Amino acid sequence: MVNLLIVPAAGMGRRLGRSGPKALAPLAGRPMIDWTLDALRSVPFSRGVVAVPPGRESDFETVVNGRTGVVAGGETRAASVRLAFRFLDPDERDLVCIHDAARPLVSAAETRAVIEVAEREGAAIAVTPIADTVKRVAAGYVVDTADRSSLAAAGTPQVFRADLLRRALSADDEATDESSLIERLGLPVAIVEISRLGFKVTTPEDLEMAEALLRSREARRS
Ligand code: CTP
Ligand code: MG
Repeated sequence: MVNLLIVPAAGMGRRLGRSGPKALAPLAGRPMIDWTLDALRSVPFSRGVVAVPPGRESDFETVVNGRTGVVAGGETRAASVRLAFRFLDPDERDLVCIHDAARPLVSAAETRAVIEVAEREGAAIAVTPIADTVKRVAAGYVVDTADRSSLAAAGTPQVFRADLLRRALSADDEATDESSLIERLGLPVAIVEISRLGFKVTTPEDLEMAEALLRSREARRS
């Protein structure tokens, strides 16, 4: 049994409103994916792969610089993960950790915690509590208020035993995360609460926040 890493990075960052792959967007002086891989360097992965926009393999090879493999991703996140999984070709008992390139402030300690729970449970994902009151809305009005205590925001890392993930990915379904595919098989998915610093860079404001946080960390270090 070994730990393997899949980093979906084939998105083009439409909501970021810039041209080019989001994972290569400049962030505090380095491409975003460089921060993400760096943040995970102390996690004991025996191999990994980054799924990248088809045709951009060589740009990513340069940044990844041998830390993981690089494979052409697909049209959707699920397609990219499928292609990355096929590239890694894990053994049934291996643990596969999926982490978005777009979450550069991921914590190595929290990632190890998710891996540890998945080792026991077969499937585990990082979640954060929802801080705001959540409303169901339609046509410009509030419909009702959700019970926040039974809700959590799901992110990555998401870690699965390879045999379960293989089954989940073989259902030719689309989903915004792999956990949804495991849930559809009726399998339990354990949750691990992580800090909100694991947020996903989606909009220009997110990029600004990530930049400020990384720069202040660097300043404290020097
Ligand atoms: N992703 C991927 N393959 C795709 C689409 C997305 O590997 N076809 C990856 C992204 O690179 C990102 C993660 O999945 O690391 C989460 O996706 P998201 O935040 O939606 O990124 P983008 O799809 O790039 O952004 P947008 O939806 O705004 O275009
Ligand atoms: Mg997207």
